Amino acid sequence: MSNISAAITAVGAYVPEYVLTNAVLETLVDTNDEWITSRTGIKERRILKDSDKGTSFLGIEAAKDLLSKTDVDPSEIDMVIFATATPDLMVAATAAYAASAIHATNAFSYDLQAACSSFLYGMSTAARYIESGRYKKVLLIGADKMSSIIDYKDRTTCIIFGDGGGAALFEPNYEGLGVQDEYLRSDGIGRDFLRIEAGGSLLPPTQETVADKKHFVRQDGKTVFKYAVSNMADASSKIMERNNLTSKDVDWLIAHQANKRIVDATANRMGLASEKVLMNIDRYGNTTSATLPLLLSDYEKKLKKGDNLVFASFGGGFTWGSMYVKWAYNS
Ligand code: UT7
Repeated sequence: MSNISAAITAVGAYVPEYVLTNAVLETLVDTNDEWITSRTGIKERRILKDSDKGTSFLGIEAAKDLLSKTDVDPSEIDMVIFATATPDLMVAATAAYAASAIHATNAFSYDLQAACSSFLYGMSTAARYIESGRYKKVLLIGADKMSSIIDYKDRTTCIIFGDGGGAALFEPNYEGLGVQDEYLRSDGIGRDFLRIEAGGSLLPPTQETVADKKHFVRQDGKTVFKYAVSNMADASSKIMERNNLTSKDVDWLIAHQANKRIVDATANRMGLASEKVLMNIDRYGNTTSATLPLLLSDYEKKLKKGDNLVFASFGGGFTWGSMYVKWAYNS
């Protein structure tokens, strides 16, 4: 390990204006506000209504928000990682388009897809590039237009997901702040339980796949829930043990917002009081790659230099993990 650590030095976010409430969902499928709130903690989500805008729009707006809060010249950015499960196009990296749109003219860029763990894995990738000493500014964007892959007649998925974008800038730190440790895992068993069946190389699009609605995301919610609870809690407690962190030492849990009950179970296992658990699932639902940076952006003012943050995520694949980060600035 080098003496350079990778610190987050700025964050930004964007959510579209349109608010899809539980009350509106009640008019689309057989559900109700009480069920959605008690089973998931979600009250509303944001939806990108403009049919001519893809996920890149959400990510670009989040990156612009970040840049507006710093004096970083976009031409100084060395690389842009775009974490997403809903790229604009199947081929042609969304990252390249976004990098050009924000005038990161000297950057190289690529997409990173690990479903709901895309941003967490992206944090690991960004950190390694910075720790290498070769790169000084890595912009990690996490965005998803989940509404583009949701069947609004399927009550088991349409109540959960929303659209949004977030961004974090990684830079070298010489005071020992930033990314300290990570525990990342995956298990291919997951693709039986959470997936989009058609549109990839295994089952390319045909008139039948469209008619059979095989281009929408489907999940066996109960099974995913069980794996998510045990693995997210397990990864987070492992990170604590490995770094000799007690529940007193952890200042904040920043967990993927898939279901409030999954986050609560993780916090319980870590012995954390609810005040230390960042939560905004009530307002945005599950925005897949955007949940972690949306939390950072919403709670930025509360995070203090030197605070111990534990990140956790679980998603399709399955993919999951936890990271320990020392926050590097006061805003
Ligand atoms: O980001 C990672 C990916 N996703 C996740 O982490 C999601 C993980 N799973 C979950 O969050 C939960 O499993 C769900 C929120 C999807 C479902 O909650 P649940 O408590 O596991 O409910 P369930 O699937 O066991 O269903 C319980 C009942 C069923 O009715 P019966 O069979 O007991 O009569 C469902 O048909 O609730 C019914 N149900 C609904 N009722 C009203 C399912 N969806 C709805 C709904 N409104 N939207």
